[in-house]
Amino acid sequence: MIAIAEFKRTLVTSALPYVNNVPHLGNIVCTLRSDIYSRYLKLQGKETLFICGTDESGTRTEIEAQKRKLTPDKYCKVMHDTILKKFNWLEIEFDNFGRTSSETNKRLTQEIFSDLEKKGWIIEKEITLLYCAHDDRYLPDSYVEGTCPFCGFEGAKGDQCDNCSKFLEPAELKNPRCKLCGKTPEVRKDMHLFLDLTKAAPYLKKWIESKKEWKGISRNLPLAWIKEGLEPRCISRNLKWGTKIPKKGYEDKVFYVWFDAPIGYIAFTEELLQKDWEKWWQSKDTRIVHFLGKDNVPFHTIIWPAELMSNSKWNLPDYISSNEYLNYEGEQFSKSRNVGIFTSDLEKTGIEPSIWRFYMSATLPEHKDYDFDWQDLMDKTNNELVANIGNFLFRTLSFSKKNFGEVPSEKLSADDKKSLESVEKLKGRYIDNMENFNLKEALKNVLEISNLANQYFQKNEPWVLVKTDKERCGAVINVCLGLSSLLGKLLYPFLPSSSERLWKQLGFTDDISKGGLDFALKSGQKLGEPKILFTKIEKDDAEKFKIEFSGKR
Ligand code: MF3
Ligand code: ZN
Repeated sequence: MIAIAEFKRTLVTSALPYVNNVPHLGNIVCTLRSDIYSRYLKLQGKETLFICGTDESGTRTEIEAQKRKLTPDKYCKVMHDTILKKFNWLEIEFDNFGRTSSETNKRLTQEIFSDLEKKGWIIEKEITLLYCAHDDRYLPDSYVEGTCPFCGFEGAKGDQCDNCSKFLEPAELKNPRCKLCGKTPEVRKDMHLFLDLTKAAPYLKKWIESKKEWKGISRNLPLAWIKEGLEPRCISRNLKWGTKIPKKGYEDKVFYVWFDAPIGYIAFTEELLQKDWEKWWQSKDTRIVHFLGKDNVPFHTIIWPAELMSNSKWNLPDYISSNEYLNYEGEQFSKSRNVGIFTSDLEKTGIEPSIWRFYMSATLPEHKDYDFDWQDLMDKTNNELVANIGNFLFRTLSFSKKNFGEVPSEKLSADDKKSLESVEKLKGRYIDNMENFNLKEALKNVLEISNLANQYFQKNEPWVLVKTDKERCGAVINVCLGLSSLLGKLLYPFLPSSSERLWKQLGFTDDISKGGLDFALKSGQKLGEPKILFTKIEKDDAEKFKIEFSGKR
C-alpha cells in the first residue's frame, strides 16, 4: 500500500502527445488520470508539479509541415496551442505544457547523449536505408510500401506485412515505392548511432526488481524483455527537423523522436522554474510518477531510465502508472476513418466539460480496456451524476437556503453518528484508492457516499420535520450540508469547476483546491444561491451523436 504521507514532493507527468494530431478520448486517458492525481496531491497540501507538453520531433512533423507550406516550427507552434486549448477546455491544469523542440530540451538531450557516450553505452553501426531521390529524403518505414519478400503480398509496409504479419525492414521490400510520390527509392548504406541496451540491461534489471510496488505490465513487461535479451536501439535519424547530434560525422542527422521526447519532462520543469529546478530531478526526496498508456511502457521502463542512468545525478522514475485502452463503440479510434470523438469535437456537442470528465473518470480503463458507448454515457450521467450526486446537492442546498438561509447548528443523534461512521469508512477507502492509483474506484466511493447521503435525507424527512420539529430539522440539515461539503472536496480532483461552484453555494469563501479534505462548516455560515450543477443528457442527443461520430456519415 502506498501512502503519500511518506513523500515530500512529487513530480507528475503525462505522456507527451504527438504534435501531429489533436488527441482523441483514448489518447487523453493518461492525461486526465495525471490531472486527477496531481489535483488530489495539491489538495492534500503536497508539493507537486504536473508536467506535460507536445512531442514534436520525427518525420511526420517534417512532412505535415511541408504539406501546409509551413516551417516545422511554425506548424508545431500552431498545433501545440490548439492541443493545449483542448486540454484547458477539459479543465486539465498543467503547471507547464512545453514543447520538445525547445532549446532547453535540445541542450539537455545533447548533455545526456554525451554522458552516455562517455559511459560507453553508445555504439556505431552501418545500416541499410531507402532514399527517395525525387523527394530528397530518407524514407522511414511508414513512408514505403512494396511486395513482401515472404508471402508476395503487394501492399506490405516498411515495418510489417499485413498479410503474413512478418516483421520487415524497409530495404527488404521487393519493388519498394515511396508513399509520397510513388517512385522507386534507392538503397543506401549509412552509419548510425545505437544506445547499447545490452550494457544497460543488468542495471535496469536490478532497478526494476527493486520496485516491488509496481503493478501489472509496468513491472512484468520490462522484466520479460530483459530476460529475452535487449538489443541496441538506433537513436539517430536522417532528418533536418529535430535535435542535432553533437558528434563528428553526424552533422546531417538528428536524434530519434523517442530519444529526446522523455527528456522533455526535465526540460519543461527547468523552463517553468528557471532556478532551483534541479531538486525536482536530482534530489532523493522527490518522487517521479509517470502516467501513460500501456504501449508506452517499454519506453518508460527501458529506454528512458537507461538515458537517466547516463549520470548518477538523475533520479529514476519512482512509479509508472499505465492504463489499458479506451475503444470507441466496439472499434478503435481512427482519424482517417473518422471514427470516435476527438478533443476538437467535444465543445460542439454542447456537453459540459464536467460531464466528459465524469464519464471518463467513471470508465477509466485502469485494469482492462473499456468501450466508450453513447448509451452508457447517457446512463451514467443521468443515473449517477445527475440523479445521485446532483440530486442530493440541489435538494439539500435549496431546502437549506429556503428554510434556514445559513448553516444550522450541529446536534448529532446516535443514529446520525452511525451514518457518519459509514461515511468515514468510505472516505478512508477513497484516500487509499487515490493514493494507489485506483482513481476509478475512488470515484465509486464518492458515489457510495452520495448514495448514503440521499438515504439519510430520505429517511429523516426534513420536509416533515420543518413543520413539526424545527430544531431536529436543523440538525439533519447540518449533517446534509456537512456531507455536501465533503462531496465537494472529494469530487474536486475529478470535477474541479463544478466543485468550486458547489463550494460557493455552500457559502465557503476559501479555495476548495487547498487545505486537505477537512473543512470548517460553521453554524451561521451564510449559504449562497443554490443552482443545478449538472444537466441530463437527452436521448435524442445521444442517438444523434452516435450516428455523427460513427464514421459512417
Ligand atoms: N508521443 C508519444 C505517444 O503519444 C509519447 C511520448 S512520451 C515521452 O505515444 F515520454 F516520450 F515523452
Ligand atoms: Zn518519393
